[in-house]
Amino acid sequence: MNKNLWVIVNFKSNLDINKTLDWVSVVGPKLYKREDLKIVVCPDFLSIEEVKKQMLVNNFPILVGSQDLSPFPEGSYTGEEAAKFLSPFIDLAILGHSERRKNFAETDEMVAQKVMEAKKYNIIPLVCVQGENTPIPNDCNLVAYEPIFAIGTGNPDTPSNANSVATKLKTKKDNLEVLYGGSVNFENVKDFLMQENINGVLVATGALNPSDFLKIISQVDA
Ligand code: PGA
Repeated sequence: MNKNLWVIVNFKSNLDINKTLDWVSVVGPKLYKREDLKIVVCPDFLSIEEVKKQMLVNNFPILVGSQDLSPFPEGSYTGEEAAKFLSPFIDLAILGHSERRKNFAETDEMVAQKVMEAKKYNIIPLVCVQGENTPIPNDCNLVAYEPIFAIGTGNPDTPSNANSVATKLKTKKDNLEVLYGGSVNFENVKDFLMQENINGVLVATGALNPSDFLKIISQVDA
């Protein structure tokens, strides 16, 4: 495969800091650096700094991301994590995940604000779109197509439909990379990665177990 590939892991609120660091210590030593493969792990906020330290100390070829960030700059915004403060530790931020839109009333406007904050501090915004009509904010070149019916259900979209949505999304914007997310696992990941217009995957449940995640990575080369 000669396109850039992303494998992005979203731990959501599933693993505490100890389990997160265990995951990193199992997975990290088994990976080798490849220019065309970008592996990103997105733990909870509390774990981010420690995970980043583990990557640096051990030289693991894994980037660190967050699962969200504040739509505001630093200031009086209780409970928020400002992009400025996250930026020393992360390369990417997942924004506009459907769980945030549903449970925290996140709007397209808020997602667009978050993208602007991320860009100010050189954090790559990865915007989750639930279908071909979800707006893609300006300044965003990486999206994940994540149909709600497929998230955490064991019922993924078909690779060919995911590819056709990715193809339509790419007609809306130049230089857009599109990932697929929703019930990806080591058994089906290859079918998604083989699609012409899919640039990688966003995985949660299927990657929480480090050995399952390593099986996903082994499929990238298979
Ligand atoms: P899932 O979640 O892999 O558990 O389906 C994916 C996501 O929500 O990003």
